[in-house]
Amino acid sequence: MAKRPSISFSKSLEPAEGDTLVIFTDESLALTESAAALGIGDLVARAAATAQFKGKGFAHLDLLAPSGVAASRILVFGLGKAEALKEVDWSRLGGAVMGALRKGERAILLAGRPDAVAITPAEAAEIALGALLRSYTFDRYKSRKADEDDKEQKSAPSLTIVHAEAGKAKKLWSGRAAVGEGALIARDLVNEPANVLGTLEFAEKAAALAELGVTIDILTEKQMKKLGMRALLGVAQGSVRPPRLVVMHWNGSKTQEKPIAFVGKGVVFDTGGISIKPAGGMEDMKGDMGGAAAVVGLMHALASRKAKTNAIGVIGLVENMPDGNAQRPGDIVEAASGVTIEIINTDAEGRLVLADALWYVQKTYDPSLIIDLATLTGAIIVALGHDHAGLFASDDALASQLLSAGLVTGEKVWRMPLGAAYDKQIESKFCDIKNTGGRDAGSVTAAQFLQRFVKDGTPWAHLDIAGTAMGSPQTETNRSWASGWGVRLLERFVADNHED
Ligand code: BES
Ligand code: MN
Ligand code: ZN
Repeated sequence: MAKRPSISFSKSLEPAEGDTLVIFTDESLALTESAAALGIGDLVARAAATAQFKGKGFAHLDLLAPSGVAASRILVFGLGKAEALKEVDWSRLGGAVMGALRKGERAILLAGRPDAVAITPAEAAEIALGALLRSYTFDRYKSRKADEDDKEQKSAPSLTIVHAEAGKAKKLWSGRAAVGEGALIARDLVNEPANVLGTLEFAEKAAALAELGVTIDILTEKQMKKLGMRALLGVAQGSVRPPRLVVMHWNGSKTQEKPIAFVGKGVVFDTGGISIKPAGGMEDMKGDMGGAAAVVGLMHALASRKAKTNAIGVIGLVENMPDGNAQRPGDIVEAASGVTIEIINTDAEGRLVLADALWYVQKTYDPSLIIDLATLTGAIIVALGHDHAGLFASDDALASQLLSAGLVTGEKVWRMPLGAAYDKQIESKFCDIKNTGGRDAGSVTAAQFLQRFVKDGTPWAHLDIAGTAMGSPQTETNRSWASGWGVRLLERFVADNHED
């Protein structure tokens, strides 16, 4: 795992020669009280004019500290219109600050607002979260030149946040750090190539959560055969790597409440199978386990911060390959639930994996609700691009909880329709349903397919994250191909709605 920056809180800290001082301003270009006390008002005003710096959100001025100030560099960050800052903006700000720091740099951030409104300890912890997320790089396969090998070059920057209520901020940060670490774990899993991260290797990574008190149960091919999981097994049969179904159980609630369940699509590589994908861009399909990665990251976050909730994570791990033994178009398989499925296109494999995983979690744990995450359809990228994941929900209350968690965390979802009218598209001539519904509303028919495996009355939401799990635009808090999307969203959903 990549090196993490050191992030700490302090009530007061005097900068020393060589340090970087980080201060905030806004569109008025006013300074905070503690920054003004350094006597740099004139310097900042003149530098802002020359650099045409207007204090806009997350932009910064990079200054050489004048003699008389015990620091080497001063970074002045804009807050835009300070009164309009939303919760998610604090992590974006922390990300922007981390982005301006160099390796080995020691930065001291004076957490104050120019409008004299106090930055809350929770906001300070969000700044730290953003900084942690931004510091992530996936560079383990880049060979280093010898001259880059000295210690200083390799060490991550350090950031100390100076805040009047440093103790409170630090306490909150330990919870936020758990979430950040969960997101980074998800990013690592998605970025890792499929030759390194196969089904067994992925299962092993999930099993490592046992260290945090998560109960792990791993179903082998043999056990899945016994359970009749022929939808999932049909996808796996063209690969030399055996399938696994991993269950992660976190029992953190004092109540005997039924667990909430999270189910993730874990296709470690999706060639399309016999309905093989075109070569261009196929390498991206190493990320077709982004749903499973988010579930592992989420379970890490919940266990690591000892969330007072009962949660189950289930991930279906398979590889979709063309092979002499691979599943064919026209094949008919019976899922564990008893529903028979005609395979029209072997590239619509994610829904087959989820069908058996959804059924298994209901049968075994009787959860109070289910949320699944899957890089399920290219069609959701056509519909929504990369800024929102598709949300399909059988329950309005669940949908609105996810919509609001999305706005607060910045992992936004947009509700898409479900409806019996779409079922016509997946009716099969030969059996119960077919695994594709044609070009029209491809993401909706995929969701309709999944709904066939959810019991009536169980609140269920499906998140199609094909556009957000990877390859999405760079942000203040993510510069990596994989985003770790879903960990922050669902951790917030749990914190707001499902803790004692
Ligand atoms: N894993 C893909 C969906 C995907 C596409 C994820 C692009 C991320 C980026 C999925 O298994 C798939 O191949 N879906 C097909 C379904 C079709 C055959 C009905 C698709 O979207 O083309
Ligand atoms: Mn596919
Ligand atoms: Zn896929």
